[in-house]
Amino acid sequence: MTVLEAGRADLVPLYDRLAPVYDRLHHRWLRRAGGEAQAALEAAVRAALGPGQALLDAGCGTGAFARRLLADGCAADLTLLDPSREMLRRCADIPCERVHGRLEALPFGAETFDIVTCAWALETVAEPAAAIVEMARVLRGGGLLCVAFCAQRPDRGVADWVIRRSLTRRGTGRFLSVRGVARTIAAQGSFEVRSVPLAGPAAMVVARRVPGSPR
Ligand SMILES: C[S@@+](CC[C@H](N)C(=O)[O-])C[C@H]1O[C@@H](n2cnc3c(N)ncnc32)[C@H](O)[C@@H]1O
Repeated sequence: MTVLEAGRADLVPLYDRLAPVYDRLHHRWLRRAGGEAQAALEAAVRAALGPGQALLDAGCGTGAFARRLLADGCAADLTLLDPSREMLRRCADIPCERVHGRLEALPFGAETFDIVTCAWALETVAEPAAAIVEMARVLRGGGLLCVAFCAQRPDRGVADWVIRRSLTRRGTGRFLSVRGVARTIAAQGSFEVRSVPLAGPAAMVVARRVPGSPR
């Protein structure tokens, strides 16, 4: 099995400091590299999300995704989780549950959510495999797990190289093996896992827990 490498640093203090300028920096990433993966994640969620369903956005940052869902009239039960208090503070206007916590130790019972999303946060966690175990644990049978992340892939050209280098220098996250993420999810039990075909330094993996499958 392709193993997901562990990181060393706790990036929460860095994200606390970045919070005031985060939206501007992240917009640049989405425009240059991550936009397709983000769009694929949001399309998968919109297709699956029904009224009253429970959605967890783990590593929610400033809550931009939740705001877009609500602007579209989403009537789901939203929970936003982040360990950065400065990030969570920026979600104060969003009608949802806001939870201070970490992906590696989600403060929820097993099978709590119909959908779990994690956009650009798995690569910030020291132990991404532990985070995947937790996201799988809190997902109900039939539920959907959508993960967008910076991907270890060959650069398509100078532009990819520049983006990869600037993110690595800023130290805001790592580049994860797409196969490693997909296989770690599959190893959690009965999941149908699909890696959305994208090129470049961004990836989206979507996984459905087969209904009635044992945990
Ligand atoms: C690149 S931002 C992504 C934010 C948001 N999901 C988005 O799409 O804009 C990474 C987020 O992961 C959070 N984070 C860092 N370490 C984390 C951990 N151990 N568990 C959960 N989130 C974490 C950071 O505080 C930050 O808000």
